[in-house]
Amino acid sequence: MKKVGITGTGISIPKNILTNKDLEKMVDTSDEWITTRSGIKERHIIEKGQYTSILATEASRKALNSAKLKPEDLDLLIVATITPDMRFPSTACFVQREIKANKAICFDISAACAGFIYALVCAEQFIKTGFVKNALIIGAETLTTITDWQDRGTCVLFGDGAGACVLKEVDSGGVLSSYLGGDGSLSDLLYMPGGGSKFPASKETVEKRMHFIKMEGNEVFKLAVRLMVDSANKALEKCNLKCSDIDWLIPHQANIRILKAVAKRLELSEDKIFFNIAKYGNMSAASTAVALCEAVESGKFKKDDIVVLDAFGGGLVWGATVIKW
Ligand code: UT7
Repeated sequence: MKKVGITGTGISIPKNILTNKDLEKMVDTSDEWITTRSGIKERHIIEKGQYTSILATEASRKALNSAKLKPEDLDLLIVATITPDMRFPSTACFVQREIKANKAICFDISAACAGFIYALVCAEQFIKTGFVKNALIIGAETLTTITDWQDRGTCVLFGDGAGACVLKEVDSGGVLSSYLGGDGSLSDLLYMPGGGSKFPASKETVEKRMHFIKMEGNEVFKLAVRLMVDSANKALEKCNLKCSDIDWLIPHQANIRILKAVAKRLELSEDKIFFNIAKYGNMSAASTAVALCEAVESGKFKKDDIVVLDAFGGGLVWGATVIKW
């Protein structure tokens, strides 16, 4: 079987910053509460006129550039997002149009915060089977477009951004194993009720604030720790590795307390975890993508390092991927 690796990365983060101090003026909260409960200090938010495919396109151009790959040589383009530009066509089609990847198969994946790992596993199968050669996967979100700025329990958590990776066959290293899971019976813990076929947009759905993220934070928190630990263990088991083999854990950045609890249960020293939650908050599918790209671009990984991506999110869905760098 072919080995699939990451050969290029790119990030797009909007310039606008919303600090905890800014939020103190919007809802009944404090910098101290947000920092101690979540680890977030600030988040970047889109400006008027920006939307998901703009961020995804910028991240994609940078990733193609760093992989030295021409857009016309791309065979597959997947965007993981829960904040697409439109219900249809897919955001992947808009990115394809912008970067002129005219040959690429395009589709979106909706797996919330685990979307980037779902996209990676999906693209890996396409390459491994020989169906495509070059793939681009993008985690891109404008979560602040579905954030309820009157709900202090959620609005302090989210931000916007995008991260993109080029995937192709490699001679050494690459993806060693992955594990994915889901449980739809937990869907009412984290969801957005309005705007789909069940509750199409109407005056009533808008008035009832149904077009915003709803979350049972406490419940999600407990499950997140358990599922991230379980995902990492299962993915490692599949390639005969142990937690002690991990050089870098690149987790979905939902809450610093979740990440510290995961580290403790995996018996992993915290300096092996990549944290960027303080500056970006939770960017759903873009969180793991941007964290991975930032870790690569800051030169954190050495050849042969064992890197584990680990995420969970609304669905609930979860997953982990083990990569030899
Ligand atoms: O991306 C995947 C999905 N998301 C997550 O993984 C998020 C998982 N959950 C969490 O990160 C945490 O549950 C939160 C950060 C959302 C909340 O932290 P918590 O420690 O679970 O707080 P809590 O919901 O139990 O609330 C504790 C108190 C409550 O007041 P009372 O009932 O004790 O009087 C809340 O009303 O804090 C209050 N509270 C706030 N206070 C100040 C809730 N939000 C805020 C706020 N500022 N923004």
